[in-house]
Amino acid sequence: MNKGKLLYEGKAKRLYATDDPDLLWLEYKDEATAFDGEKKEPLPGKGALNNAISSHFFALLTAHGVAHHFVKKVDGQSQLVRPVNILPLEVVVRAVAAGSICRRLGLREGWELPRPIVEWYYKDDALKDPLVTEEHIRLLQAAEPEQLQHMRREALRIYDILHPFLQRLGVLLVDFKLEFGINAKGQLIVADEVSPDTCRFWDVGSGQKMDKDRFRQGLGGTLDGYREIWKRLQQTAEGGAECTR
Ligand code: TMP
Ligand code: ASP
Repeated sequence: MNKGKLLYEGKAKRLYATDDPDLLWLEYKDEATAFDGEKKEPLPGKGALNNAISSHFFALLTAHGVAHHFVKKVDGQSQLVRPVNILPLEVVVRAVAAGSICRRLGLREGWELPRPIVEWYYKDDALKDPLVTEEHIRLLQAAEPEQLQHMRREALRIYDILHPFLQRLGVLLVDFKLEFGINAKGQLIVADEVSPDTCRFWDVGSGQKMDKDRFRQGLGGTLDGYREIWKRLQQTAEGGAECTR
């Protein structure tokens, strides 16, 4: 399989065509960005770690029957995925208060929510990805009510898969962000990535952050957190992706 023409470049990944129209080449970059790209830094090794970690989580989701775009990991920083039309929404699941919900609602970081909740953010750089209601989403024609219902159900189901799995590895799943897209068959499936860039992972024992908050908050040791997550994932039989670094 060969990497073809560059189709799209985002902040964390590049998407290329391949010789097969049903497969795209997704390359994870060695760069960290935060706050809509205001903070940006080269981070050698991050691409391979996120590629390995995300591949592992997608394989776990496959084992649980969740439909997604991931096909297989092809090299250190790249994986093959199915083409989808991404909906302009970020679907965030929160189980523990952290990040923007603390600022918005005055919650204490670390407070365990009575049950996991789903939030919607409208993907629009100029608007800085605002939090939106289901009625806003209808107004913006970003998704249909049935699609919202499906994404909410899938997002909570993914929490129910990831939370106990990570718990066994001594990792608290605080929150995570998903993106969904429509594939060639018209199905709404999970796309993008599941990695320390898009999830908050805290060590159960020490409460240490092992995700992109280390970079966002300038705590240092960003990649140490990612490495620790990858190390713990490798202890599990589920998944099965490899990391060359
Ligand atoms: P937040 O607390 O900043 O709203 O983030 C919630 C979750 O979503 C957290 O796990 C990080 C993730 N996230 C992204 O993946 N991309 C983004 O652009 C933002 C703002 C958050
Ligand atoms: N990934 C986003 C950016 O690069 C924001 C974030 O995750 O904090 O701006």
